[in-house]
Amino acid sequence: MAIVYTLVNQKGGVGKTTSAINLGAYLGYYGQKVLLIDLDPQANATSCLGINKHDVKAGTYEVLIGTKGIAEPILHNPRFKMSLLPSSPALAGAEVELVEMDERHGRMRKALVPVLDRYDYILIDCPPSLSLLTLNGLVAALDGVLIPVQCEYLALEGIGQLVQTLGKVRNSLFTELEIRGVMMTMEDKRTRLSHDVISEVQKFFPNQVFHATIPRNIRVAEAPSFGQPILFYDENSSGALGYQMLALELLYGDERLDKEQITQQLDGLKAQGRIDDERYKTFLIDLGKLSQ
Ligand SMILES: Nc1ncnc2c1ncn2[C@@H]1O[C@H](COP(=O)(O)OP(=O)(O)OP(=O)(O)O)[C@@H](O)[C@H]1O
Ligand SMILES: [Mg+2]
Repeated sequence: MAIVYTLVNQKGGVGKTTSAINLGAYLGYYGQKVLLIDLDPQANATSCLGINKHDVKAGTYEVLIGTKGIAEPILHNPRFKMSLLPSSPALAGAEVELVEMDERHGRMRKALVPVLDRYDYILIDCPPSLSLLTLNGLVAALDGVLIPVQCEYLALEGIGQLVQTLGKVRNSLFTELEIRGVMMTMEDKRTRLSHDVISEVQKFFPNQVFHATIPRNIRVAEAPSFGQPILFYDENSSGALGYQMLALELLYGDERLDKEQITQQLDGLKAQGRIDDERYKTFLIDLGKLSQ
């Protein structure tokens, strides 16, 4: 049965799409069947995977509106080991059309049902708003939301409003909506600011911030123009390592890999010189703490 996570933050450009794609690719690399749902009319996730949004004949829009079932428009990329429900500019119109429809908040959740047993993970990439599309993403987040937060000045700006929205959804639409975790993106280890921001976010979300952080890395920013996740564009980059560690942390927390399997993977990374002793140890210790 698929674990369904929705990536949400109404602030633009914090790394929702980048994280959905790259985390998805690493989950695929670790043997998981992954479906990415592009719930954003900007269709960045679709473009980042090398698909021209103007060529999309059917995708998220048709599924939400109900003119197509979900299975048919799904595209599969065997190389990336990932499937995609693509978006197209038409999705912008859904916002208006949905208002008139029955169960307007729960349409994505309902649409997912036929494919839940075909995937191990379903990741939903939301637009930068708290619109009806995002609400559909939240109600469909059966196993929780992943909140990417950029390591920058005023990182927590808007987070209060996001948490309030999650509360409202919990009260009226989906009682069990959870925060699965907060991912720190675009970290610059050389600056004090990144460090301070992470501490501040950890205070705001105690025990909910992933230990693995994603560094700011030019290779991560370049990969979409080649239509590839970072794993395929430059698997030796620091950005790739960040997403690989995040995937391992998630897989461990979700009990899809056990401690032995995680340790084996980390041993491999250490043997390749990609992580040092210090990082190896703190990662394992923190995994232990997170699982308590
Ligand atoms: N780790 C990183 N290092 C360098 N650049 C990054 C990194 N993560 C994301 N970026 C870049 O930052 C920009 C915003 O990222 P992204 O599109 O993933 O954010 P988003 O939250 O999905 O944005 P939107 O709110 O518009 O949907 C992109 O140009 C992306 O390439
Ligand atoms: Mg995006």
